[in-house]
Amino acid sequence: MTILVTGGAGYIGSHMTLELLDAGEKVVVLDDLSTGFRWAVPEEVPLIVGDFGDAALLRDIFARHDVQSIIHFAAKIVVPESVADPLGYYSNNTAKARALLEAAVEAGVKRIIFSSTAAVYGDPEHNPVTEDESLKPVSPYGRSKLMVEWMLEDVSRAHDLAYVALRYFNVAGADPKGRSGQSTPKATHLIKVAVQAALGLRPGMQVFGTDYPTPDGTCLRDYIHVTDLARAHLDALRHLRGGGESLVCNCGYAHGFSVLEVIETVKRVSGVDFPVEFAGRRPGDPAAIVAANDRIRSRLGWTPRHDDLETIVRQALDWERKLAVRNESGA
Ligand code: UFG
Repeated sequence: MTILVTGGAGYIGSHMTLELLDAGEKVVVLDDLSTGFRWAVPEEVPLIVGDFGDAALLRDIFARHDVQSIIHFAAKIVVPESVADPLGYYSNNTAKARALLEAAVEAGVKRIIFSSTAAVYGDPEHNPVTEDESLKPVSPYGRSKLMVEWMLEDVSRAHDLAYVALRYFNVAGADPKGRSGQSTPKATHLIKVAVQAALGLRPGMQVFGTDYPTPDGTCLRDYIHVTDLARAHLDALRHLRGGGESLVCNCGYAHGFSVLEVIETVKRVSGVDFPVEFAGRRPGDPAAIVAANDRIRSRLGWTPRHDDLETIVRQALDWERKLAVRNESGA
């Protein structure tokens, strides 16, 4: 029984592939390498370079490999880009996911685990936010993902296909064994940017907004270690294989840090006092968003193992150093 990982050459997908291999699973990766890297896929895993919305290619993959489960990561994920190019996001994240589901149903795939996002909540009224909070995405990115959740709900009712949609909060950090990490050169995420500033890979960084209704005026987020997130997918797979029902779960630690706290941690762990400029708010940023995680703990038995901001930052720094050496040597 093979697991198809779409986007397996990307940041979260590559950590997932490592977790699956560590658990003794058989994996095949489908990735168009638009933001992923060939080297991020372990040699023993077949990498098919292609489009996850290509029905003929999917048919071929399903015919060649005994795929019973899909873990679907491949997507565009930059919120401001989605505001500028909504149709691109609906085409890539929504329409292609529809094609993937159609091919999966046709091939008799039984299980799918879907990368959803906290962006489906928009600016939530309550924190920590539960899965029952009203869904009011404020970006095309969030809407493009929410539509896939709805398709999954409908498809699972009509066909023999069960799903778990995992709503990720702020994913960060790197594989504790140093095998993978966030490698996208232009990544805009806070911890990546701060780590690059600490290592002198950028001149400094900006804080977007200091007048939010939070204790220090900067935004609060729930930063989850990428390996804990990958493990949540393994738990979801076990749940579905055991005949568990379809579910939607938040993935986060139920507590948050402000932008200033994160920057302070990166400075402390790296020992570098890099320049920080205070800038205006970034459009579309909710003031605070923290995951309630009771459901994933009780229904999937998920237990975080890396819930420590210093560890997340240290491993992100280690990976960024490794990446700098790799880039310098042109590998
Ligand atoms: N930030 C800065 N400076 C930077 C980068 C980020 O101040 O250089 C701030 C942002 O304004 C925000 C916080 O740091 O307040 C976190 O920003 P990120 O870009 O790291 O992450 P987001 O919270 O915007 O996005 C994450 C996911 C999205 C998801 C969203 C839902 O990456 O996929 O959470 O809230 F949609």
